[in-house]
Order: sequence, then structure tokens, then C-alpha cells
Amino acid sequence: MRDKDILSFAGDMDDELDIEIPATDEKMSTKEEDDFEELTFENDSKGQNPNGVSDDAFGIITTGIDPLEITEAGARITGYITTSHRQKVRLGTYVMVPYGDEDLFARIWKLQYLQEYAVDDATEIHSRRMLQSNTTDEVDYKFLAYLDPICILYEPRGKGILDRRMSDRIPRPNTPIFPVTDKKKIQTGLNIPEEGIFMGHLSVGGELVKTHAVPPTVPYYLRNDYSMGDPLIFRHMLVCGSTGTGKTFLTKNLLRQFMSENNRYKLRGSEERRNPCLVIMDPQDEYSQLFEDNPEITDDDDFKFRAEKVNFGACKNTKTFVAKINGEAYTGRSRAEQIEFTIPFEMVKENSWLIAPVGMTELQYVGVDLLLEDYFKKTGQHTYSGFMDFIDNEDSRGKYVDSGKIHESSYDGIVRRVKNRALARVFDQPARPISEILEQIFKPGQISVFPTEYITNSRIRDIITLTLMSTIVDNKLKTSITESGEAAVKETPIILGLDEAHRYLAKAGGEHSRRLISKFADAARQGRKEGLGLFLITQDPQDIDDTIFKQINTRIILNLSNDAAISTMKVKKEFEKRIPYLKKGQMIVQSPDNSDMVEIMGLSRCVVKHV
Ligand SMILES: Nc1ncnc2c1ncn2[C@@H]1O[C@H](COP(=O)(O)OP(=O)(O)OP(=O)(O)O)[C@@H](O)[C@H]1O
Ligand SMILES: [Mg+2]
Repeated sequence: MRDKDILSFAGDMDDELDIEIPATDEKMSTKEEDDFEELTFENDSKGQNPNGVSDDAFGIITTGIDPLEITEAGARITGYITTSHRQKVRLGTYVMVPYGDEDLFARIWKLQYLQEYAVDDATEIHSRRMLQSNTTDEVDYKFLAYLDPICILYEPRGKGILDRRMSDRIPRPNTPIFPVTDKKKIQTGLNIPEEGIFMGHLSVGGELVKTHAVPPTVPYYLRNDYSMGDPLIFRHMLVCGSTGTGKTFLTKNLLRQFMSENNRYKLRGSEERRNPCLVIMDPQDEYSQLFEDNPEITDDDDFKFRAEKVNFGACKNTKTFVAKINGEAYTGRSRAEQIEFTIPFEMVKENSWLIAPVGMTELQYVGVDLLLEDYFKKTGQHTYSGFMDFIDNEDSRGKYVDSGKIHESSYDGIVRRVKNRALARVFDQPARPISEILEQIFKPGQISVFPTEYITNSRIRDIITLTLMSTIVDNKLKTSITESGEAAVKETPIILGLDEAHRYLAKAGGEHSRRLISKFADAARQGRKEGLGLFLITQDPQDIDDTIFKQINTRIILNLSNDAAISTMKVKKEFEKRIPYLKKGQMIVQSPDNSDMVEIMGLSRCVVKHV
């Protein structure tokens, strides 16, 4: 049907050129009837043509190709793009179509060239001629942009503020299609908060969206106040991207935003507001650098950061907490104060999975619990070597196996797995037990970094991370607090940064990870009430346990090349296709309670040191 339409239209055009542009047609000058290239429109000095329409307009809404149509399920809105604007129009470009009193805000989802005249250009002779010398002009073709309406922007009567509602009107034929140049309109159109945690600037295909405002860029903020429920960090965040795509760079830039004197959060049952404490598990020793300025920041950056309320510069309240491990030494990547601690074996009493490695069977696991229970009933000092002596002897073995409490093969399996020279280097080392320094770690306004890179054994690294995770989660979930250390955890808003999160929150793990994960999921659910925000970082989002994954409200997607990872993120199709092409700094933000799904560009500079 369309072909026939085009042919009949083109047939008309053969003998006569007949473009109707109301109120401007008399100003149109054509040297020759079919010399489209010479089409010019006279403008007045302000870049406006006589009917008051700025020549910024990309083109007009047309009915010449398809009917204009809007339904509950979708819309068919076609625009004709004029030759001079064709270069600028891209898939994903945001546009505005005015009604007079209100505007349609839309996104271009399809672009198309159609022939202006019936010419068969799919021929050998034509293509050869064109290869020698291409004489095609833009005006030989119609360039069409199909619009996907996002919403209608309007000012509710008497309110004097801009608002948005579902697109329930159809644009009038021949209305101009404008680029969006009004910052307020684009923020309202995409439902982006005007203040909060700075994340980056709105972009389309890696190009920043520019408006007529000063500065022209459109900042993207994450809601960080109580105007519409709780600050979104307490509904958790995930940054994912393949290795080397800038996860750490971005995370530093984001986490730094939470560290300002006036950023304070409420805690349950208290009127007082407190600064958050950032606790960062740092497998590559990069976050202690939050203590240092980025020496590359120029005066120009400084000016721009201030204009858009971007927090930047060193956080002098950064401390590095170093687990003392026999045979390992931490040198440090920043001048931040280092505080040594050790994990007392007593902690294993409540957290048996700390010494139960991944891959233990359910039966072995139950056995370990039983052995630990009995061991901790004994009076005196409880240590890892004490526990080993307790289980690794014939008397005990006989007692448990003969009484049928633990099966013979399980018993031997347990001993084999728990007996690990690495574990002997972790517990009860000559440093202060972590349980005694909770008040030093969980302090409002402080960044507490836990590096693990200096430890060569990965099982030890995991023990440290898991200890911290369970210390936070257990104390946050406690209903009655007896010690000041517990209170420090419970009564400080905590943002827990967990790099390589898939390692600790993996689905399909053994019994030990299941227990940790279910506790973590509980804590995540309570996050808002208890003031616990999870900030997870991973290159394998598909490996994160579903119960946790579902709790994460804000998902930031950097370049991902793995199909399984991409499909886990379940982004809209139009954004999904872009994921493998995202450049450094470019990301897709999916945060349904904050804004529509958008693409943004993060800062091209790290606001603190990152080397
Ligand atoms: N937005 C950006 N603009 C400019 N450079 C960037 C940007 N993001 C990251 N980089 C640079 O890219 C490199 C890799 O960044 P980063 O260390 O953050 O990646 P990553 O995803 O954390 O990698 P890994 O998988 O090793 O943890 C660094 O040199 C960093 O400075
Ligand atoms: Mg990294």
C-alpha cells in the first residue's frame, strides 16, 4: 500500500513541485522548479522565520506517509526532517512538539529515508554511476523520524510549575518538531530530580544533551531526601560493567557525593540526623585514595563542579583498616591513617560459615555447627588451634562417630576442610580484635576502607570481607543493643561498598553462602528503616543471588560484553542494544523510583585521586 502511495505521490511531483509551507511560501525562492538544493527560506535577524517559528526546528509532524495515531498501547507519529537538520538527528534524540498550551515530549525511535521520486536505484548501472560520482542530494529523499511519545508537559492551572502526564493527545499535522533546549522541561519530561546525589549528565549515544541554560548540560541526580519516601541509596545500588570499563572510577565519584557535612540521614526512632559512614571492601587497594585530592583537577573543573553542586576533593576523614595476617604486610596506597585489627576466633561461634569453606555438604555443615557448639561450651580461651586440637583427635572422633551424631565420612571431611594452614594465620593475631573497635570503624562522616589485595590467599580475603558483612548485618538486625560497639553499627547510617559483590552474594553457593545471603537479604529489606545502603559493584551481575538482586532499586550499567550479564539487567530493548557500545563514562541508569530510564555520561575526571 505504501509503495502505491509513494508512486502516486511521486507521479504528481513529476510535473510540478508543490510544497506548502503556510505563511512562508511566498518567500520561498526557487530558481528552477526542480532545483531543490537552492531552496532557501528567509529568516529575520533572530533566526526566526516570519511565522514566528525558530529555525531550530528539526522538521514537522506529517500525515503524508502514515496516519497520525495514538492509542492506549502506543503511537504512530511521523516527522519529516528538513535537509539541514538531518545530520543532527539520531536514534534516541529527545524532541518537543508544541500544542501551544502544552508540549509533547518524545524520543526518536526510528529513522527512515524514502524516495522523493520514483527511481530504481537498486541497479547495476545506477550504482556504478554513483560510485564514480555521487550526485544524490538530500532533497531527493524524504528523511523521516518516528516519535515515541514519553509524556505531555503542562502547567497545572494556578500552580505555576511544570508537570508531566501520560501522552493522551495527538500532535497536530505540520506542527514543528524542536530539539529540547529547556533544561527544566527535559528534567520534568524524564522525571529527573533537580537535586540530590550527582551522577552524571544526560546524554544520547555518548553526546551530552545541551540546552540553552548555563551550564548547558543536564545534570542527573539521584533522590537523596525524604520528599518522596526515603533517600534512594537505602534502596540500594548496583554498578556493573566488564573489567576495565570504569566501575571503580565511577564508584569513587558517586560515593564521594555522599560525603558532605550537610548530608544527613534519619535513623529509626530518633529525631537526630547523622552523616553516613562509608564502609568499603576494597579488593584492589584503590579506595584509600579517597583521602587524596586528584591533582589533575583544573580551575575549569573546579568551576563546573561548583556550578552543578558536585562534591569533590579529598575526604580527610578516610581511614584504612588493615587485618593483621601472619606473614602478610600492607604498605598502603595513600597517607590515610592505618588501623590494624584481628578477627577473634570467638566470632566463629555465631558465624560458623566463616571457617566452613564453599563446597561443604549440608551434613558436614551441620556437623561443624555441632562441633563448634560443643567447643565453645568449654571454658577458657577459644582459639582456632584450640578448636583444631578439639576435633582432630581420635577421642573426639570416636565420641561423635560412635554416638551417631556425625557420620564417619562427614567427620573426616570436616577435619580435612577446616584444617587449613591459612586459617591459622587469620584468627587472634597480635592486634586489637575487631569486636573492640566497632566504634572506631562505624563513625558518622567517616570513610572506613578495608583493603584485601595485600593478602595472597583468597580464602583469607573472603573471611575478612564476610566478617565485616556479617558484623554490619547482624548488628543492624539486632533488636536490643547492649554494647556501645553494637550501638555504633546500629545507630550510624552505613553505606556498604562491596566490590566483586558476585563473589560474596552468589546464587548457587553452598550452605554457608545461603545463610549469609538470607541474612543479607533481610538486611537489604530493612535497609530503609535501619539506615543501611548497599552499594554493590560487579562484572557478573548474573551471578548475584535473586533475592538480593530484586532489592536493588538503582542499577547502573557500564559497558557489558557478556550476553548473560546483559540479559540479567532486563533493560528496555532500545537501551539494551547500546550496552556493548557504551564508552568509558557512558552508562545506562535504571532507577524506576528516581526517573525514566536514561543514558548519562559520568564525569570524565575522578573527583578524588584514582591511579
Ligand atoms: N569516565 C572516565 N573517563 C576517563 N577515564 C576513565 C573513566 N572511567 C574510567 N576511566 C579510566 O579507565 C581505567 C579503568 O577504570 P577503572 O579502574 O575504574 O575500571 P574497573 O571497571 O574498576 O576495572 P576492574 O575490572 O579492573 O576493577 C582507569 O585508568 C580509569 O582512570
Ligand atoms: Mg575496579
